[in-house]
Amino acid sequence: MRLPKYFHYAGTQRTIAGHGALRKLPGIMASLGSSRPLLVTDRGVQEAGLTELVLSVLGASKPSGNQENAITVSAVFSDVPADSDTHAVARGAAMFRERNCDSIVAVGGGSVMDTAKGIRMVSTLGGDDLSAYSGAGRLQETLIPLYAVPTTSGSGSEATQVAVIKDHDTGRKISYTSPYLIPDAAVLDPLMTVTLPPLMTAATGMDALTHAIEAFISLAKNPLSDSASLQAVELAARNLPQVIINPHDEESRLQMAVASHLAGAAFSNSMVSIVHTLGHCAGSVCGIPHGICMGILLSYGLEYNLHMIRSEISLLLLPLRGKAEYMETKPSKRPEAVIASIRGLAGHLHELTARQYPLRFRDVQRTDGSLVMEPQHIPVIARLALGDPSQFYNPEQVDYHDMVRVLEAAYWGYALDQGLVKKGHQK
Ligand SMILES: [Fe+2]
Repeated sequence: MRLPKYFHYAGTQRTIAGHGALRKLPGIMASLGSSRPLLVTDRGVQEAGLTELVLSVLGASKPSGNQENAITVSAVFSDVPADSDTHAVARGAAMFRERNCDSIVAVGGGSVMDTAKGIRMVSTLGGDDLSAYSGAGRLQETLIPLYAVPTTSGSGSEATQVAVIKDHDTGRKISYTSPYLIPDAAVLDPLMTVTLPPLMTAATGMDALTHAIEAFISLAKNPLSDSASLQAVELAARNLPQVIINPHDEESRLQMAVASHLAGAAFSNSMVSIVHTLGHCAGSVCGIPHGICMGILLSYGLEYNLHMIRSEISLLLLPLRGKAEYMETKPSKRPEAVIASIRGLAGHLHELTARQYPLRFRDVQRTDGSLVMEPQHIPVIARLALGDPSQFYNPEQVDYHDMVRVLEAAYWGYALDQGLVKKGHQK
């Protein structure tokens, strides 16, 4: 195990997970003095009836001897786009001010969580220029309370100190990182994810698995994030196929929610690496959903780093495949078995979703059958990726030519030729 000389770990103050966990939300809010929240959500979540579910739980909250402890949702902001952006944050913050809110309840996936974090910054600190707080650690102030109720098991944003918000005018995605951005409480209730369709479940679940694995191999890893990563890998590998076979299996949905939360906590502290570097840029250039990019790229990211961290990759076989298979596999073969296991899991998801879930970039298609990514996009994505900071946490030193190789392998679906990797750290 690589032990850092120094590390800093920040986590959620309160995590409430379990069947019926949502019912605990009013009590937690009252204990932190919140009574007039702005509820932030999006239209898909509303249409699935999940916003109504949260409103009914909050509406049913009773004052506990003191009228000030009753929760009254002051307003619902549902105008969140698929990719959170600065205009949506400004609209949400205006609503927060107009309705005299005192806290935020975020009900949704990653974009809703990021938008809520943006509204939280602007509403607490004032001003309109969110970018003044961009980057790592510039935000140094306690913010208004934020309560996070995730409706996907993927982004883990309810556990992270990160928000990624697109500048509406320039189109650039700007990241904000600070321990003060971590929600005050995260509520993980399987009722919030049982309606998620199979393809979304598969894609978001592979995002969670990627967070856990990338945090585990990152140059910034630490023992606390490692513990969270290994637990998350085990829970995700065991439960992801199950929630697609039986979406209403609340026990497996809960375990996926916990996996995603642990993976979020892990990468929030240890960062991610080449899979996210390339995935962010494939998403920007071609508009491929983040979780789909993660599922396609994850095995190639490990293959790319294989010569640097064989022993660490081999440790992942235990949570991925269980004790019996780990013991039966020769130690020298375990790293390759990990990569095969991830490809096997992706293949299983492909079959379970009636082949909707793609295994290579070549197979991502629009509804009319046209290709979303063409081979000529590969150099464009690789050049853009040179500016993505997550590459600096990758064990191998990433360069343009290696990124093209990884993308080509993931495009056509062939194993990466280790002999062609430039091995930057060994020059
Ligand atoms: Fe991700």
